[in-house]
Amino acid sequence: MARSVTEWVSVTGDISIIARESGEVWFHTLSGTKEAVDPFATPMTGAGSTGSTVGLLDGALNLGFAGIEKRLAHPDPTVAGYIVALAGAYHTSVHTPRNLRRAASRFDELGRPEVAAYLEERAREETGHDRLALKDLHALGVPGERLVANFIPEGIKPLCERFDYLCAQDYPVGCIGYSYCLERIAALKQKTDIEKVQLLCQDGVDATRFLRSHSSLGSEVAHVDETIEFVASLPANDRIRVVQETYESALIMAEGYNHELLKSEAEMLDEIQQAVGDPLPYRLGSYPSSRGEKRGARPAA
Ligand SMILES: [Fe+2]
Ligand SMILES: [Fe+2]
Repeated sequence: MARSVTEWVSVTGDISIIARESGEVWFHTLSGTKEAVDPFATPMTGAGSTGSTVGLLDGALNLGFAGIEKRLAHPDPTVAGYIVALAGAYHTSVHTPRNLRRAASRFDELGRPEVAAYLEERAREETGHDRLALKDLHALGVPGERLVANFIPEGIKPLCERFDYLCAQDYPVGCIGYSYCLERIAALKQKTDIEKVQLLCQDGVDATRFLRSHSSLGSEVAHVDETIEFVASLPANDRIRVVQETYESALIMAEGYNHELLKSEAEMLDEIQQAVGDPLPYRLGSYPSSRGEKRGARPAA
């Protein structure tokens, strides 16, 4: 009988994630164990499996998000928070196809046509998603182009810079970990999350195109499954780097959440107003669920 696959990756100086094909995952602290007797002290070299790969990837996400402020993790959505989230969604989507194609052509040069083909396919699938966010902004009565030209949520900026950086590397395999992080988090959004946002909108207004497509109801679930399968097929060195980057991206994303979610609705409306110039069709307290000062919606992307 073939032995069950076990994979492991060191994601911080002393913490490794260990995952079995059966789905078991645990965190292993290297300090205190003698290298000579610790089988996880040296990088893994064997083949992957989907069961253990998803364990490593989601383990990296959990570890990266461990620092998010718990009281902010599930805020009630507000219109201002949702507009900020859509601006963030635009910025994390607009350069994705170009960035992925850049990484794909590098893998072509490196003689890795299977990685190039995977990234090309992802670039095709992600094309036009920035337009969904702009359409949603317009549906809310916000001049989307003007908003995004003048405004990028501070918590989202480091994420965009990280993706640009990863795709420009000589060996850009880390961009797969970044994409996994964003898509897996999006795929956690449920129908009820979309319904909460719909309740904020006036009757007949459809402002959830981006959210629907980047949720458990849209294409993200398939993207996540395809990525897991693809990462599991990669050589061990690549899997290690993808998992490490999933962790790094989750850290950056969690930091961004903490930053954005600490803002009040009034602060967010002010930022939006300044970027747009004209008065918005919203005022504080002018929509159904507003009950005084509220914290913003979790970023849509
Ligand atoms: Fe997308
Ligand atoms: Fe996607």
